[in-house]
Amino acid sequence: MVTEQAKLRAEELGVADRVGFIHGDAAGYVADEKVGVAACLGATWIGGGVVGTIELLAQSLNTGGIILIGEPYWLKLPPTEDVAKGCLAGSISDFLMLPWLLASFGKLDYDVVEMVLADQDGWDRYEAAKWLTMRRWLDANPDDDFAKDVRAQLTSEPERYATYTREYLGWGVFALMAR
Ligand SMILES: C[S@@+](CC[C@H](N)C(=O)[O-])C[C@H]1O[C@@H](n2cnc3c(N)ncnc32)[C@H](O)[C@@H]1O
Repeated sequence: MVTEQAKLRAEELGVADRVGFIHGDAAGYVADEKVGVAACLGATWIGGGVVGTIELLAQSLNTGGIILIGEPYWLKLPPTEDVAKGCLAGSISDFLMLPWLLASFGKLDYDVVEMVLADQDGWDRYEAAKWLTMRRWLDANPDDDFAKDVRAQLTSEPERYATYTREYLGWGVFALMAR
């Protein structure tokens, strides 16, 4: 189902002959053939954090290849652990401020060779799209077992997002090359 949707989208974009999809658990996944670019965009728990995910991706990478890591960072340090939890982080220590995150790549002996950072408008597009999706799903599935949970989430999410994530959390994709 997921790979079918991905294939349809690839066809829409005219790139179906250039991509393949594997649907599975990325934790511990190493490509059969080494690649020029290995990416994990927003799921660094697959390697137990940024360090483990870089180590995992490096196992699939050609010498001189590029690793892309998508990871949140603190725009400003949460004043309390409750604020960090409001951002859906486990604790303040889950993420770093941007300069420290960049420095941490250097400590792993990687050069940061490019980065693309989300701005607030980009965050808004990402989060608000989920609200419309939830609303449409609720309208179409009022009697589903999950309807109560989705209703509660849609009711609380805009305020939670504006109070916490939008103010405190940044997100970026970082391109890394081993030194
Ligand atoms: C925070 S989202 C980021 C997705 C995408 N990069 C984006 O910008 O929308 C994390 C994604 O990783 C997927 N994911 C979570 N754990 C995974 C795992 N162990 N193996 C493969 N995919 C996983 C989730 O289903 C979700 O689609």
